[in-house]
Amino acid sequence: MSERDSEVAPVSTSDPLALTERWEDIVTDDRNRWTETGGDEGFWATHADEYDRRFVGKPVGLSRICSLVGPSDTVLEIGPGTGRYTRPLARRVSKVTAIEASSSMATTLDRNLTSANCRENVEIVEEEWPTADTDGHDWVVAGWSLYRQPDLRACMDQIIETANQGFVIIDSPGSLPPHRRIAVRAGDALASPPPRQAFYCGLLADRGRYPSVETEPKTRERRADSRTALVENLLSDALNDPLAHAEALDPWLHQEPDATDGTWCYRYTVPAAVISYVDDASGQPPMNVTGESQAATVEVGR
Ligand SMILES: C[S@@+](CC[C@H](N)C(=O)[O-])C[C@H]1O[C@@H](n2cnc3c(N)ncnc32)[C@H](O)[C@@H]1O
Repeated sequence: MSERDSEVAPVSTSDPLALTERWEDIVTDDRNRWTETGGDEGFWATHADEYDRRFVGKPVGLSRICSLVGPSDTVLEIGPGTGRYTRPLARRVSKVTAIEASSSMATTLDRNLTSANCRENVEIVEEEWPTADTDGHDWVVAGWSLYRQPDLRACMDQIIETANQGFVIIDSPGSLPPHRRIAVRAGDALASPPPRQAFYCGLLADRGRYPSVETEPKTRERRADSRTALVENLLSDALNDPLAHAEALDPWLHQEPDATDGTWCYRYTVPAAVISYVDDASGQPPMNVTGESQAATVEVGR
């Protein structure tokens, strides 16, 4: 064995890719300190009201979800937030159990569902998943909500156990939005996101579940009253002198004359991963997205 080989950490036999350890490091080292009491709730308390305005177009993966669920099905949604997925789901299935840890987001969810006239068949459970006491459901949906699960292996087990027919997880494939790419180039080493889809797929494969992975474009935007305010808003978390990097953001900044909630707009599109698994025993073959979605489909390991 060479000297270099001997420096490589031994591979755990129970977790050949050491995914759980690496994930745990990422979650606990996260700059936003999701795991600290109050950290994430504090963030959502500030952002619950404006969260929906960040998104442009249909939520990523919604076509896929809608192609799977049926009118008599039940869905457990982890981290519904303001209800971008909950509203269309509530109209398509018999019941949605929406487990939301943030009381600010739960309040906004309740309001949004009521005003969209689809509150009746949604049970909002204000708890931290997976400790919430929930029975089996036909489907589990988790849209951008597994980022602070300290034990991803247990998290995947719980999803598999809860979902009788299958599940859909939507998250980042590790790509950075432009403002975070600029921050990284300017020396903010903490900004690199993990390729979450790799962690999910790796741990699922370890359990004999081989999901379908699709990539869909996700477009988001932020607005502010001035270009300066927008740049500061985007870069001040990561950089001491955000305005020194303002020009690098120019390709994604524009003024919209008809904007009602701000003069300047920052808009970007990056890929997002839609990971779906349909239990073979439920009799439904894995399907590709058809229709409106332009998703490119990759079947992993089948
Ligand atoms: C990024 S938002 C996504 C909201 C929604 N799924 C969407 O895509 O618009 C994440 C949401 O998940 C919630 N969340 C995070 N971890 C959670 C957990 N362990 N249990 C319940 N909710 C959680 C947060 O409070 C937040 O509302």
